[in-house]
Amino acid sequence: MCGIIGFTGKLEAADILVGGLTQLEYRGYDSAGIAVSEGSSTKIIKTAGKVSNLREKVASSEDRSGTCGIGHTRWATHGGVTTTNAHPHVAGKITLIHNGIIENYKEIALALKAQGRTPVSETDTEIAALYLDSVYDGDPFAAMKKADEALEGAYGFCIMFSDHPEEIYCMRNSSPLVATSTDDGAFIASDMVALLQYSKDYFVVPEEHIVVMKKDGIILYDMDQNIVAPKMLHVDWDTTAAQKGGYDYFMQKEIYDQPEALKNTVMPRLHNGRADFATDGISDDLFKGINRIIVTACGTAMHAGLVGRHLIESMVRIPVTVELSSEFRYMDPILDEHTLVVIVSQSGETADSLAALRLANEQGAKTISIVNVKGSSIARESDQVLYTHAGPEIAVASTKAFSVQCAGFYLIALKLAELSGKFTEGELSEYCTKFEEAISTVAEVLKMDGYIKDIAEKIKDTFSAFFLGRSLDYAIASEGSLKLKEISYVNSEAYNAGELKHGTISLVTEGVPIIAIATQDHVLPKIMANVEEVKARGAHVIMVTDKDMSDYEGVYDDLIQVPAVDDRFGTFGVTVALQLLAYHVTVFRGNDVDQPRNLAKSVTVE
Ligand code: F6R
Repeated sequence: MCGIIGFTGKLEAADILVGGLTQLEYRGYDSAGIAVSEGSSTKIIKTAGKVSNLREKVASSEDRSGTCGIGHTRWATHGGVTTTNAHPHVAGKITLIHNGIIENYKEIALALKAQGRTPVSETDTEIAALYLDSVYDGDPFAAMKKADEALEGAYGFCIMFSDHPEEIYCMRNSSPLVATSTDDGAFIASDMVALLQYSKDYFVVPEEHIVVMKKDGIILYDMDQNIVAPKMLHVDWDTTAAQKGGYDYFMQKEIYDQPEALKNTVMPRLHNGRADFATDGISDDLFKGINRIIVTACGTAMHAGLVGRHLIESMVRIPVTVELSSEFRYMDPILDEHTLVVIVSQSGETADSLAALRLANEQGAKTISIVNVKGSSIARESDQVLYTHAGPEIAVASTKAFSVQCAGFYLIALKLAELSGKFTEGELSEYCTKFEEAISTVAEVLKMDGYIKDIAEKIKDTFSAFFLGRSLDYAIASEGSLKLKEISYVNSEAYNAGELKHGTISLVTEGVPIIAIATQDHVLPKIMANVEEVKARGAHVIMVTDKDMSDYEGVYDDLIQVPAVDDRFGTFGVTVALQLLAYHVTVFRGNDVDQPRNLAKSVTVE
C-alpha cells in the first residue's frame, strides 16, 4: 500500500526511481511521482494514473538529471486521485514521500494554520511535510525526532532537506522500509523487489530509527543519534521470480508457481513421518500446554485460517477460532499462556494483523506467524515464525501465498497430532504420504487450464455468482469467491450450502452460476442435495470436486474433476481450479488482472 523508493549515489536517479516504482506498482497505482535533486535544486515530476504515465512524463522532461531522488506510487487514503495529491510533497526545505496514515493530521493542520502554514493538497502527508518544515532548524535528526513524537499513525518517510544535498533521511513506524548499498550508492524501498537488480543483501529498517543515505553508503542511527549495526538479510529467491517469466500476468505465473512453492514449503519440513521445524528454530514447547488456538488474519490469509481450523479441530480436537484481525484487535479477546495465536500474512506487514499480533503478545498468549516475506514486521515480532517459501507474490490477488499458508496449517496439524500422542507412527506417516500426494496433484490441475478456460467463457458475462461448500469446502468456497469478485468484479458470495435456503436462495435465478465444491465424503450427499435445490431453480451449476460424480449426472452443468485425494487434503487441487476460473473470467472481461481497481497489495493502513 503505497510504494516508496530512494536513491543517492553515482547513477542518474530518475531511471532508478521509475524502474523501482514499476516493480512496486502492485502496492498502489492511482498516482506516482519523483523528486530528483542536483545540488540544492529539486525537481518534482508527478502525475495521476499509473507509473506508465509517470514514465512518459519523466521521459519527456528535459529537467530530470540528478543523482539523488525519491519516488512514490500512491494508493489514495486522504484526498482524491489528483496530481496535486500525488507525492512527493514539498514544504520549505522539505521534500517528502510517505507510506501510511497520519491519524492526527487534522489537529496538526490546525496548529500549522495558526502559524500561517496551509497545505495545497488534501493529504495527511503534506501536513507531515509542513510540520517537519516548521520544526526544522538545519538539523534533520532533531526535526525527525520531533516529528516522530508529534505524528500518530503509521508511516515510512523518505525526506530530502534542500540544505543537505545528495542525502536522504528515512524513518518508519509500522510501514515497511528495506535498505541496501552498493558501489553505485545507497538505496531504500518499501520492498526488496524494487532493489533486486542492485543487491540481494539488505536490512529491514527498524522502527524508531533513522537511516541516513549518502553517496558512499548508509548509516543507521537510533533516535538518540547512536550508530546501530543493521541486521543484514539475504534474498534467497532468484531475481527472475519477481518477473512475469513469459506469462501474460503475474497472477497467471503465480498460479503456475504453486507446485514449486508447495514443494519448497513442505518437503524440507517432512522427515520420517513428522513435521520437523528444527531449521525454523521452532521448539515443540510452543505447542505444549495449549488448550486453544486463535487464528487471526485478513482476506485470503484468513481463509487459510478457516482451512486450518477444520483440519486441527477434526484431527487433534483443540478448539480453534478464526478472527479477522480488524475485529480481533478491538474485541478485547480472552487470552492467556495456554492460547496459541497464529497470525497468517503473506506480506507480514498488514496493519491489522500486526496490531492483532501485538495485542496477543501483550496479553501473554504464545504467538506463531505464517509469513512469506522474510524479516517483515509480523515475522520479527511473533514468538516463532513458520516461513512459507512461495517467493515474491506480485499480483494483488493472492494465489500461491494461500496454498502455502494452508500447507503451513497442514504442517502445524501434523506437529500437534504427533504431540497429542493419539496417533500411531503408521498414521502419522500415512498423513505425510497423503499430504505429498495431494500437493503433487496441483501440477495435474494446471494441465486442466484450457478446459477451465472454456467453462469460464460460459459465465464471463454474469452479474453475480455463488460459491457453495460445507465443512472444509466452505473455507475453499470463501477463497474461490473472493478470488473471482476481487479481479473480475462479478458480485460473488460464498455460502455454507446448508444456509442458502435461509434467505439467499431467493437470489438464485435462471442461469446464475453456482460453483459447488465437494471434496468431503461425510457431507457429499448433503451438498449434492443443496445443488439439486439450486439446479431446480435454473442455476448454472459448476461442480468442482475430486469425487466420482457418476451418481449425480444431470445435477450439474459443468464438471471440474480434479484428481482424487484423501479428504483431509482436498484443499490444494480444488483451490487451483478456482484460481484458474477467476483468472480466465477476468481475462475474458478485459479487466486488469494484476492490478484490480481500488485495491493494493500489503494493506499497511487500518
Ligand atoms: C486477496 C488478498 C488479500 C490479502 C490480505 C492479507 O487476494 O490478497 O485479501 O490476503 O490483504 O494480506 P497479507 O497476507 O499480506 O496479510
